[in-house]
Amino acid sequence: MSQRTLARYLTEEQRHKGIITNDLKLLLEVVARACQAISVAVGKGALGGVLGEAGSDNIQGEAQKKLDVLSNEILLEANEWGGHLAAMASEEMDLPHLVPHRFPKGEYLLTFDPLDGSSNIDVNVSIGTIFSVLKCPDGADLNTPQAAEQAFLQPGSAQVAAGYAVYGPTTLLVLSVGDGVVVFTLDREQGQFVLTRENVRIPAETNEFAINMANRRFWEAPLRDYVDEMQAGKSGSLGKDYNMRWVASMVADVHRIMTRGGIFMYPLDEKLRAKGGKLRLLYEANPMAFLVEQAGGAASTGRQRILDIVPERLHQRVPVILGSRQEVERVVACHSP
Ligand code: AHG
Ligand code: MN
Ligand code: MN
Repeated sequence: MSQRTLARYLTEEQRHKGIITNDLKLLLEVVARACQAISVAVGKGALGGVLGEAGSDNIQGEAQKKLDVLSNEILLEANEWGGHLAAMASEEMDLPHLVPHRFPKGEYLLTFDPLDGSSNIDVNVSIGTIFSVLKCPDGADLNTPQAAEQAFLQPGSAQVAAGYAVYGPTTLLVLSVGDGVVVFTLDREQGQFVLTRENVRIPAETNEFAINMANRRFWEAPLRDYVDEMQAGKSGSLGKDYNMRWVASMVADVHRIMTRGGIFMYPLDEKLRAKGGKLRLLYEANPMAFLVEQAGGAASTGRQRILDIVPERLHQRVPVILGSRQEVERVVACHSP
């Protein structure tokens, strides 16, 4: 049987299931092409002059790497002319990017974390791109970038598609259009994404957790109790030993969970209290929560389902606890009074 490429998968979703529109198909193909271009840049590394600092800060006050800026530009340029988008928002831009007047406007909004795991760029560890697609509300004011922010403030449950690319030993594209989760592997010679895994399911149970343990002393008591229980292992109340993994690229940590289960946590802590958390709701937490739920897992702040949060700001941050359903439920139980 011939290979099922991304284009073919999307065409079938459209033709047989009527799940996606022509414009959404185009949008996802364009995003995938941009990820391919980012993958090429990542692969060149020092030879392409893409490592190191850009010498600027983003709106979050974080120093931008050259690859953060380059990936953002690749995604903007790829997506602005196709006629499928109304506006885009990104970790690396203060305000939304409007589609220039010379191009037609479409009905979708795209948000992205162009380069996730920036601290891993220069050490040759897996990094990625995370994206989320929303419908632009009817009558949304898109006259100025400031006014356009409002259109993006939709709960994650309204996403029509979400995905991430991982630039690791292989480049993968993991996607959901609300019909389960599928994985494509980049065939570098052919220059296309080929379907290599369907119907991704996250096992409900796990014995693997992912958290930055260096922040332990800043965590809230319920979270500390939960992790203590796991660390007690066989001799504790859970009666089994746990293993720990922390790549520090959300895409890589989530992808491991998509493959063999586990729980990922970037909780609220004393240092992050004023900010509300570390990870950003619109282009990190929401797309990952959508994918994880589509794969049968769960995603919560500890107190609320992530996809139910009504955003107040474009760059809002939230605590993130996601992965194997039973583990996430245990964390939520620890948080309830
Ligand atoms: P980004 O590189 O887009 O700013 O995101 C980094 C995030 C996420 O990928 C990862 O899980 C987390 O930050 C790592 O944080 P620590 O460095 O605190 O471990
Ligand atoms: Mn990120
Ligand atoms: Mn980033």
